[in-house]
Amino acid sequence: MFNKRIKMFAQKMMSPDKPGEMSGKKIEDADFLGLTGAETPIEQRVSRLLSSMALSEKIDLCSGYDSLAIRAIPRVGLPSVWSSDASSGIRSFDTATAFPAPIALAASWDRTLVKECASAIAEEARAKGISILLGPGVNIHRVPTCGRNFEYFGEDPYLASEIVVPYIEGVQSKGVITTVKHFACNNSDFDRHRNNASVDERTLREIYLPAFKAAVTQAKTGSVMSAYNPINGVYASENKMLLTNILRDEWGFDGFVISDWISTYSTEGPIKAGLDLEMPNGKWINVKMVKKAIENGTIAPEDIDRMAGNILRTLFKFGIYDRAPIDTSCKPHSPEHTHLSTEAAKESITLLKNDKILPLNQEKITTIAVVGPLAKDTPIGGGGSCLVISPSSQTDILTGVQNASGDISVIYIESKEGEILSEGKHLLKKADIVLLCLGYSNIEESETYDKMWRLPNFQEKLIRNTARINSNIVSLLLSGSACEIDSWLPAVKGLFLCYFPGQSGGNAIASLLFGETNPSGKLPFTIAKQFADYKSNENYVKHPERTSFRQIMGPKRVLKKAKKQMKTFEYKEGLFVGYRQFDTEKLEPLFPFGFGLSYTTFEFSDLNITPDSGGLKETVSVSCSVRNTGKMAGSEVIQLYVKDNESSLPRPEKELKGFEKINLEPQEAKTVTFNLNKEAFSFYDNRLPGWTIEPGDFTIAVGNSSGNILVSGSVSKKAE
Ligand code: GLC
Repeated sequence: MFNKRIKMFAQKMMSPDKPGEMSGKKIEDADFLGLTGAETPIEQRVSRLLSSMALSEKIDLCSGYDSLAIRAIPRVGLPSVWSSDASSGIRSFDTATAFPAPIALAASWDRTLVKECASAIAEEARAKGISILLGPGVNIHRVPTCGRNFEYFGEDPYLASEIVVPYIEGVQSKGVITTVKHFACNNSDFDRHRNNASVDERTLREIYLPAFKAAVTQAKTGSVMSAYNPINGVYASENKMLLTNILRDEWGFDGFVISDWISTYSTEGPIKAGLDLEMPNGKWINVKMVKKAIENGTIAPEDIDRMAGNILRTLFKFGIYDRAPIDTSCKPHSPEHTHLSTEAAKESITLLKNDKILPLNQEKITTIAVVGPLAKDTPIGGGGSCLVISPSSQTDILTGVQNASGDISVIYIESKEGEILSEGKHLLKKADIVLLCLGYSNIEESETYDKMWRLPNFQEKLIRNTARINSNIVSLLLSGSACEIDSWLPAVKGLFLCYFPGQSGGNAIASLLFGETNPSGKLPFTIAKQFADYKSNENYVKHPERTSFRQIMGPKRVLKKAKKQMKTFEYKEGLFVGYRQFDTEKLEPLFPFGFGLSYTTFEFSDLNITPDSGGLKETVSVSCSVRNTGKMAGSEVIQLYVKDNESSLPRPEKELKGFEKINLEPQEAKTVTFNLNKEAFSFYDNRLPGWTIEPGDFTIAVGNSSGNILVSGSVSKKAE
């Protein structure tokens, strides 16, 4: 799959230079000049600065410096402001805590946990002098093989919205600005500089924009990052419809828009569309080119004031210009954060199969064999800018299991290209349990290219060869998105999807294996039986894993040449992405969205809908009782789906509109209540255009996965 050059590039992505030192200037040495007047109203401070700054200084402020910074303007007392990736921890700038990948946080379905992890990441940012976090990413899993799906929150816009809001609140509560990304429709990294997303308005509004809208209107993100790709033929960094008409005029966004790195193709385009900050440097937004454009009359000095004003206002709003870059009360990492990362992994890892083999009974087991390429090289995250380069600690699966195994002997069995090495076959045969560690490394699943649907590196062969020797297999699968499982599922008795579990993945996995923790993760995406089942793949590439250096490096050319090279992905599946497609087509997935097993059982009852008949805009209250009917404490995710029984436009079979995760002791019962406002029943009607609710009956379906509705009822919405 990889030629040598690409592998080298991918590894380079893993260990970037530490930007702060590249310029010989560490953040703590930043010329913190401070700015008097913190008690002065922000607008006054902004206008005072804009009137005293030279045009060249304002232009300098609107383009990056030293790859991750907003440059200092010492003459007027503005220090440099540093950013860092990203959503699972501070990527560079020395040691940090590597939390589980964002997709794993989504799989926890636990808003409180997400906020805690995000706050911890922000504390570590403050300890390092980072004021802007270049995340979170919220692009929807349109195709299962997008190389960056691990960085996002799954296939459903409601789940993604409900996870991104607490994430942003967690980060910004610590005075760090979030940069929700990649706006918009960056749903493939196959050729991200050229993949033109051709998407209709209704699909955009109902599927691809909601999480961005929630980030802006509910969580008040300080920044938005425009994507690499074109949307309907216009590059995101110059897409006025997105950056101004929707983002600012409709949603009231008042922060700054930052470009993705090397994703601009002209000077006028981004400025006229509403971009404020070009990263990583002023390739197009620089003094020479901007002054020329002003002379030509294609842009005005007021454009630059608007851009610089957006940046200044946001940095003042977060107190960044009124505090020292480094908050010495914060720690760059800590045992508490390591513990939190472990807990987050435990809550997200999803049990997909359990043929009476889990939890492992330590009384009856004497030997565990651990097999597979990822047993020792357990990836903490996917590759690229989201990967934490120097985690404060790292526990792979083999070590994690050894740490927790007590008197059980845990033996690693070598394999090579799918073959069990001969000296290991005897030990493998004798083992009571085999842990088979499979999946994708952070080279095989990474930013800048898409991934294989099937397991890489002879792993299918390894499964067959292992099963021939010992059938008591529990598989631990490291993957940030859906992948091919159907062909080998019968060969294993237990299966955990571990996503990318962060630096303590091994300990978290061991805790679940031995039953110290009861699994409670739920799939944030649909796992189909075969690649072709996803309708979206009909308008995508046939071999996602094929890549080239040209694709990765993207065009360095001006817009007209870049446009010529666009390749269009028609989003012809429209709204029917993931379970929206599978349920509507009555197509059986291997594992449905929202699915995840537990070591205990739960019973749902007493669904109550009030009022069960009311006005279109009237809030509907839905309650349901859930009891733990097993012998072990555990958590369940109660999922509420709404179906419009009859509509003038096609609508998905059902859509997630509520969820709550609750923990129950054995025999304990709790009642969960959801308040459904008008959004829960609305759809976007291109003909208006706008959001609307049509009178009629709606089904309220409550269960513990999209494929397992346990109680349902209906509500009738009447025209007012
Ligand atoms: C990358 C990514 C973006 C990241 C930025 C800085 O190319 O697309 O998500 O934040 O550049 O590393």
